[in-house]
Parts: sequence; C-alpha cells; structure tokens
Amino acid sequence: MAEIIDGKQVAEDVVQTVKRLTADLVAAGQPAPGLAVVIVGEDPASQVYVASKGKKAKECGFKSVQHTLPADTSEADLLKLIGELNADASIDGILVQLPLPGHIDSGKVIQTIAPEKDVDGFHFINVGKLGTGELETAFVPCTPAGSMLLIERVRGKDLSGLNAVVVGRSNIVGKPMANLLLAANCTVTVAHSRTKDLPALARTADILVAAVGRPEMIKGDWVKKGATVIDVGINRVPAPEKGEGKTRLVGDVAFAEAAEKAGAITPVPGGVGPMTIALLMANTLVSASLKAGLPRPSF
Ligand code: GUN
Repeated sequence: MAEIIDGKQVAEDVVQTVKRLTADLVAAGQPAPGLAVVIVGEDPASQVYVASKGKKAKECGFKSVQHTLPADTSEADLLKLIGELNADASIDGILVQLPLPGHIDSGKVIQTIAPEKDVDGFHFINVGKLGTGELETAFVPCTPAGSMLLIERVRGKDLSGLNAVVVGRSNIVGKPMANLLLAANCTVTVAHSRTKDLPALARTADILVAAVGRPEMIKGDWVKKGATVIDVGINRVPAPEKGEGKTRLVGDVAFAEAAEKAGAITPVPGGVGPMTIALLMANTLVSASLKAGLPRPSF
C-alpha cells in the first residue's frame, strides 16, 4: 500500500513559513505583503476559491483586498483596475480569478498584470523565465509549484534519472509542470487526449502527474510499481450511495486501485488542492521580499 501524501500538512508547513517570514519582514520595517484578488461575475465555485484566498492571506498577516466586479464589467474597466493595482505600491500580488466572462479577453487581461506582481505566473515573462530555467526570478503557477513540493517531499530535489509523465497540456498545470520536472532533471513526456497508448506510456512513469479533469481516468494498471502519483484533478461526481442528489469529489486517478501499485500518492481531496492556495501565499511573500531587496525565500 502506498504512502498517502498529506497535502494539507505540507500546505500548512508552507503557510507557517510564510507567516514567520511575513512577521520578520514587518519587524524589519517593511510593509506587510499585499494581495489583490479580482473576481468578475458570480460563478459560485470562483466565489468560494476567492473567499478562501482572502482568508488565508489575512491569516498570513498580509494586506488582503478583493475587487468584486459585476459580470457585465467592460474589458476596458477591468484593464483600468489592473493598471491601478500595478501602480499601487501596497500591492505585491495581483490575481484575476479565471474564467472571466466571455466578452473579456483573458489573455489580454493576464498580459496587463505587471510581471513582478503576477503571482499566478501566467504572464509571458514568467512563462518564459520558467521555460528557460530562470527560476530565481520567475513566478511559477501555484498548482504545479505546489505539486512539485509534494514530489520533493517523496523524492528529494534532484530527480535525475527518473521518468516523468504529465497527463494534460494546459498552460495552467501541464506545461509548467513539465518545465519544473525538466528543471529538476527528470526525463519528461507530456501526454494528452491525442496520445497513442496512454496506459503503456503511463506505466513508464516513475512520477505520474494527472491533470486532465476526467474523473478516475487513470486506472491502477496504468501505474508502475513504486511510482509517485500526483493527482491534480478535482471532479465532482454523483454519489447515490450517500443519498439522492448527493455528490463526492474524485481525482483524475482511480485512487484505491492506483494506491495498490504506487509508492506514494496524493488523495483527493487533501492532496494538491490545499497546496495551490499555500503557494499563492508563498508567491506573494516572494514578490514582497524581492521588492524589499531581500533574498528570495525558498519553500
Ligand atoms: N481558476 C482556477 N484556477 C485558477 C488559478 O490558479 N488562478 C486563477 N487566477 N484562476 C483560476
């Protein structure tokens, strides 16, 4: 039976470090790190995520501001707000919650965020830095950065000689995850919906990362014995066994079967999920530290 990787605990460790370093920063006479979260519209899931980001920021000792804009906000007004946040010296991190309403060009919005405040790591400058291995000054997207910390807990920082397979090629998870694994000396393959014989490819993986958004797609017999399995998926599925109309959360990996083969595996919930918010706090602290001319904190 695999080791179950406790993402809640690792996330809590990260948050404790952020709190301690924030207190040090403030004790040294610097302003508290400031995080601005912008949400457009009333998507219930987005509202829950945004509220928990604000709560965690306050817990870390940050200045936390939320801008809630109506769904019919014009792109020009949103860009104007981002311009103001870019110019606001009390703000170190800007996060615009995605998805945005259809009439707004998300790409344009993301590229308007000042790269040094882009704590999501979505700006071309940060994507390019990650791609070229400039990790000292890059902001790395929170979910893959958090997944990487979980992998390091199991395998250490140097992954030389290990084969990694990332299933999913999104800009938010799959591609940055592949770059992080490459920077840690893995041999990396990125698989996706057009990949031939995915089960056979997955079986070559010492590190298998699932980020496809398809409930329990990755089966136990796709997992190499002893592999480290990181499940990024969070899918809500019907759970009639819990009663009429009830649901439960599952990952992209069929957990029980995969746990029979894996050396270590993340659960859903309680694996990668809590890491995403923790790394957002870490990125915001990094931004404030760099602005203050201090060394980059590491996690
Ligand atoms: N929506 C879902 N995940 C994310 C994320 O990591 N960042 C932002 N900005 N929006 C999201």
